[in-house]
Amino acid sequence: MRILIIDDEKNICTTIQSILEDEGYSSEYALDFKNGLKKLKENIFDIVFLDIWLPDKDGTEGLQEIKKYFPETEVIIISGHGNIENAVETIKYGAYDFLEKPLSLERIVLTINQLEDKLKLKSDLREYKFNLLKKYELIGSSEPIKQLQLKIEKIAPTNAWVLITGENGTGKEHVARLIHLLSKKSNNKFVEVNCSAIPSELMESEMFGYEKGAFTGATNRRMGKFESGNNGTIFLDEVGDMDLNLQAKLLRVLETGEFSRVGGNEVIKSDFRLISATNKNLEEEIEKGNFREDLYYRINVIPIYVPPLRERTDDIPLLVDHFIKESCQFNGITRKKIDNELMQVFLEYNWPGNVRQLKNIVERMVVLTESDVLTVKDVPDFIMSNFSINEQQSIPNDFNGNNYNGNLKTAKERFEKYYILKTLQNKNWNVSKSAKSLGLERTYLHKKIKDYNLDQFRSKNAY
Ligand SMILES: Nc1ncnc2c1ncn2[C@@H]1O[C@H](COP(=O)(O)OP(=O)(O)OP(=O)(O)O)[C@@H](O)[C@H]1O
Ligand SMILES: [Mg+2]
Repeated sequence: MRILIIDDEKNICTTIQSILEDEGYSSEYALDFKNGLKKLKENIFDIVFLDIWLPDKDGTEGLQEIKKYFPETEVIIISGHGNIENAVETIKYGAYDFLEKPLSLERIVLTINQLEDKLKLKSDLREYKFNLLKKYELIGSSEPIKQLQLKIEKIAPTNAWVLITGENGTGKEHVARLIHLLSKKSNNKFVEVNCSAIPSELMESEMFGYEKGAFTGATNRRMGKFESGNNGTIFLDEVGDMDLNLQAKLLRVLETGEFSRVGGNEVIKSDFRLISATNKNLEEEIEKGNFREDLYYRINVIPIYVPPLRERTDDIPLLVDHFIKESCQFNGITRKKIDNELMQVFLEYNWPGNVRQLKNIVERMVVLTESDVLTVKDVPDFIMSNFSINEQQSIPNDFNGNNYNGNLKTAKERFEKYYILKTLQNKNWNVSKSAKSLGLERTYLHKKIKDYNLDQFRSKNAY
């Protein structure tokens, strides 16, 4: 802990200094405000003892200045006999406490010990939040991820309700947690309500709680998720799977912020920010009569779409790197690498399970592979066979009707690559037969095989 004393009486400075030294704290001092501020700018100080009367500065003003530039620094005011009233005033401006001259040794020690506990709590909380922010950092450098990051930074500090959509495993919950961490509610709870995991009869009591005796088995009153999420964020996951009856109840709660526990009459108010997520297309669900339109408009103030991984393959290398690092650390394994050929396979694969699938596969390979470098030999068979099992799967995703945003030349090349690969596989890698079937010169086919690095698929799929 670093401590600074600013007082124009040198013997006050040295007295405090020696008391602090006996307690095991080192400190510095300055005899006027100007020099004190200079020291504050040069080094981080956790605590400042500040004389309320200094030749070059009124203490209250000095305090405000310190708090403005160094809001984390705690200030203890030292006041003379005549200006106790002013000292009391300084608490309003953020002083931690004030000490009266002549200084009492016990008071100084007591104050400093209390402050140390407070600072420890503060730094533990800061460290905890720092680690969480690292855990929910959005990895990726593709254009869609950059845009997503900007949008999150913009909307997180507001209280606007958010609806996150995207396929399975794209990172919807990850995004929801990041929004909470960057929000003003980050010191309060993030409460997750999974609308699909819980049978619908239980859902209501899970959400709103119940009173003792509300149903058989309700031996005690229980708080629901909406009540415990007061002042925090409520994350309604898989909201598209919610039962229609419950949707009606939820809508009422969202409109009023009020509800009662099951089996009770007491009206409970809860103030929360709602973030919902679903992998369903809610507009289609409304058409089908499975989702209430009015509820949809309620929860969908800010829409956020997390695109599938195959539409942002630029993110794959960074994600792979991140997951390798994470799982090596978690499992106490020395850092592994991935070779280019395997990375190429990862870039080509269509990742139906998105980021979660990539993460699981990388983790599995890190744990199961003996060598320090992950190669195509270690990759689970289904990833390689994605290129050969059947026509449907071997057609890259660009061609299955969902993605018409790409560059035509790249699309043609990708198609050509898969078409050639498919033919080679059908002809058991007989280049002459394949060339004939494709209507190409043999030498030209050899060149294509080389250009597209198709040999890598040969060993696994030759038979
Ligand atoms: N951009 C990213 N950076 C780092 N990790 C990510 C990213 N996106 C997803 N993840 C990680 O991938 C895993 C799956 O993400 P998450 O659970 O958020 O997906 P989801 O969209 O909620 O999936 P589901 O629809 O199945 O519920 C998590 O471990 C998450 O931390
Ligand atoms: Mg999820």
